[in-house]
Amino acid sequence: MRNTRLLVLLVAIVAIGVAAMGAAPRRPKPITFPKNFLWGAATAAHQVEGGNYNSDWYQWELGGHTKDRAGLADDSYHLYDTDFSLAQQMHHNSHRLSIEWSRIEPSQGVWNWAEIKHYRDVLKAAHDRGLKTMVTLHHFTTPIWVTDQGGWTNAETVTWFAQYTARVVLGLGDLVDYWLTVNEPNVMVLTGYVVGLTPPGKTDLKQGVQVLANLVKAHAKAYNIIHDLIPSARVGFAHHMRVFEGNSWWNPLDALLAVFIDDFWNSQILRSLKTGHLKLSIPFLVDYSEEVPGMKGALDYVGINYYTRDLIKFDLGSPQKFDIMTKVDAPHNDLGWEIYPEGMYKSIMKASSFGWPVYITENGIADAGDTMRRQFLCDHLKQVSYAIDDGADVRGYMHWALIDNWEWILGFAPRFGLVAVNYDTQQRTIRPSAEILSDAAATNSLRLCK
Ligand code: BGC
Repeated sequence: MRNTRLLVLLVAIVAIGVAAMGAAPRRPKPITFPKNFLWGAATAAHQVEGGNYNSDWYQWELGGHTKDRAGLADDSYHLYDTDFSLAQQMHHNSHRLSIEWSRIEPSQGVWNWAEIKHYRDVLKAAHDRGLKTMVTLHHFTTPIWVTDQGGWTNAETVTWFAQYTARVVLGLGDLVDYWLTVNEPNVMVLTGYVVGLTPPGKTDLKQGVQVLANLVKAHAKAYNIIHDLIPSARVGFAHHMRVFEGNSWWNPLDALLAVFIDDFWNSQILRSLKTGHLKLSIPFLVDYSEEVPGMKGALDYVGINYYTRDLIKFDLGSPQKFDIMTKVDAPHNDLGWEIYPEGMYKSIMKASSFGWPVYITENGIADAGDTMRRQFLCDHLKQVSYAIDDGADVRGYMHWALIDNWEWILGFAPRFGLVAVNYDTQQRTIRPSAEILSDAAATNSLRLCK
C-alpha cells in the first residue's frame, strides 16, 4: 500500500515536471533578432500624401463609395521629412512607402519629371535620416487613363506597368534599397472584382481571376525589368497572408473548404512564381492555368502583410458560395478583426517553405485608444522570432503604419499609426505603444516584452 502511494507520488512529480517543461518559454530571454534586421514602418502614397486626384480611387471617392475622401490625407507629400524624422527618432532603420503611378505618368506615355524629382527628394530625405528604402510601385491605385482602357482586366496594362517600372528604375533606382512591385494582388481582386467594395466595384469572379493573373504577370515583368537595369536589385511583392480555418470543428466541409481557400490565397501565387506555371484554382470555383515565360523564379523575397485569421463556413444551400466569419471568443481590434499572433508564425513558415527570404512588409492594429498595440507588437514580434528559431530566413519587420492614415473605404476613423495624427492641424504625436518597436529597433531585441 505504502509502495503504491510512493509510486503515485513519484509519477505525479514527474508529470508536473514534464508539464512545466512543456510550458517553458520557447527561447531564453531576451529574444534577439538576426544581424542587419530591418526595423521600420510602412505607408502608401494615396493613404498619406494628399492631393492625389488622378487615379481610380479618387473617382471612387467622388462616387461616394468611401466614408471620407482622402483629400489632403496626412499631407505627407509636403511633410515627408517630418515623418522620416519621427521614424528616425523611433530608431527605425528602414521605411516602406509607395510611389504614385498616376503622378509619374498622368496620361499615357507622358512622364512628369517634376514628380520623379519629388520622389528623388523623398527617398534622399529617407536616406538622410538613416532609413533604408523599400518602394512599392503599385499600392492599390491605378491611373485613370489605364482604367479608362479596361484597367487590370486589359492584358495591355501589364505592358504599361512595365513601361512605368522602367522609367521609375531609371529615375529613382539609385535611391531604392528594396523593391515591391505590387501590393496585395489577392486583396485587390477580392475587394475590387469579387465583393465589389473597391474600384472598379465588380462582382465577377471569372474576371477577378483574370485580373489576378495579370497582376502576377505584371509583377514578373517588372521583376525582370528591374533586374535588367539593376542586376543586384532585391525585388519582391507584398503578399497578404491570412490564416483560414473551418468554422465548425465538427463540419469536415468547412475544414476542407478552408484548406482549398488557404492554398489559393496564401500559396498559389508563390508556387506559380517558383515553377513558372501560373496555376490558380479552387475546386468548382476557380481554374486558371498558363505557362508564363520569364516568370519562373521571378522573386528575391516574399513581403508578408499579416493581420488576422478567418473562419470558413461551407453553405450547403449554395455550395458555390461560402461565408467568412471571425472567431467570436477571441480578442479583436477596433475593426472587429481577430488578433491572432500565432498566424504570424504560420504565415511566415508557409511562405518560407518556398525557399525565399521573408520580410514582414505590413502588420498592425486599428487601435484608436492605444490600449492593445503594445501587447500586439510584443506578441507578433515573438512569433516572428519563433519562426526564425524554426529556420525561417526573416530579415525585417515593417509595422503598418508609421502614421495614422486614410483607410480606403473606411476613411480616417481607423487608427493604425505608431504616430497619431490630428487631421485638423497635421500635428503628429508618437503613441506610447510605439516604444515597443523603437526599443526593439534600438536593441535588436524584445527586452521590453514579458
Ligand atoms: C493594405 C493597407 C491597409 C491595411 C490596413 C492592407 O491590406 O495594404 O493599405 O491600410 O491593410 O487596412
